[in-house]
Amino acid sequence: MITTSGLTKVYRSRGREVTALDGVDLHVREGEVYGVIGQSGAGKSSLIRCVNLLERPTSGTVTVDGVDLTALAGRGQRASKELRQARSRIGMVFQHFNLLSSRTVQDNVELPLEILGISGRERSRKALELLDLVGLSDKARSYPAQLSGGQKQRVGIARALAGDPKVLLSDEATSALDPETTRSILQLLRDLNQQLGLTVLLITHEMDVVKTVCDSAALMERGQIVESGTVGELLATPGSELAAALFPVSGEASGDDRTVVDLTFHGETATEPVISQLSRTYNIDISILGAAMDTVGGRQVGRMRIELPGRFEENVVPIGFLREQGLQVDVADVADVAGRAELASGEPRLVKEGVAK
Ligand SMILES: Nc1ncnc2c1ncn2[C@@H]1O[C@H](COP(=O)(O)OP(=O)(O)OP(=O)(O)O)[C@@H](O)[C@H]1O
Ligand SMILES: [Mg+2]
Repeated sequence: MITTSGLTKVYRSRGREVTALDGVDLHVREGEVYGVIGQSGAGKSSLIRCVNLLERPTSGTVTVDGVDLTALAGRGQRASKELRQARSRIGMVFQHFNLLSSRTVQDNVELPLEILGISGRERSRKALELLDLVGLSDKARSYPAQLSGGQKQRVGIARALAGDPKVLLSDEATSALDPETTRSILQLLRDLNQQLGLTVLLITHEMDVVKTVCDSAALMERGQIVESGTVGELLATPGSELAAALFPVSGEASGDDRTVVDLTFHGETATEPVISQLSRTYNIDISILGAAMDTVGGRQVGRMRIELPGRFEENVVPIGFLREQGLQVDVADVADVAGRAELASGEPRLVKEGVAK
């Protein structure tokens, strides 16, 4: 549904060049919720602004719903008719809602319909229908200042849906909201995704957002996508930073001559018999350092961190046994364990600078 290839964006200002996007190949399938996560300055907003051609890429192509947007002329306010038309099929939701304070809620939702030249009655019908969809039918005549943050974002979402988009882009839509309101907005996005078959590309710096609603995710660093895939694929990728952050399991090794192993299992597969079989087969004592079950991307996932006596070299065979049982096995070295514990507890690597948690 959305494909970018070799997408590059270089900003030039006062003789300085900043490469915000450095060859991004993104592929968002129809009907999925796709999250892009990364630190401040990683290029997330640049990516989303290039996807709807608010920003013209320096090079590379953007295809949305089969239309190569980069081939259409114009940019920003001076977009050609074709580009404007294609863009009206892409809804956009912003962090700070961007509502017009002098207009009522209904008039804010009608704005894009006015621009599309739709008649007054039809506009009004559509706006009320959309407000109903986002649960705000009783606020049509209110002004933005009379709404809570969550309600404002619902208006922003209703407005984004006015042109019957197939794709919704969201840049930090929940960053200005408290956790509970965040959950309700994410649920709304999920419902719209399912009811309308809407493809959603959302940008966030919060791992919880990815965990709650995304089918797929990508991690951006310095203008590049360094990891991507469906949540299931990521969880099945040994050493995946996204997977470890999505589903952290903590627990420190009890000594140097120990091997720490993280096991990941999906839904039905229980690890317990495997652990006791391992213990019996190789006559070793196994300590469980940490374990958790969670729902990630709508699927039940379990993780367990265990400790085997002896160094890695002495545990090659038992580790092979675990892999043979179909479990995903990640062997952590000591530094790695410390790094992951840090990710799990304070999530310092993925937290946006300057944003109070
Ligand atoms: N209009 C611009 N002119 C010059 N440089 C820019 C412009 N917009 C962004 N940049 C630079 O491009 C890089 C990527 O910025 P971008 O806004 O895409 O990051 P981001 O991942 O969205 O960050 P944040 O999480 O803080 O929103 C940064 O170094 C930024 O300073
Ligand atoms: Mg941004």
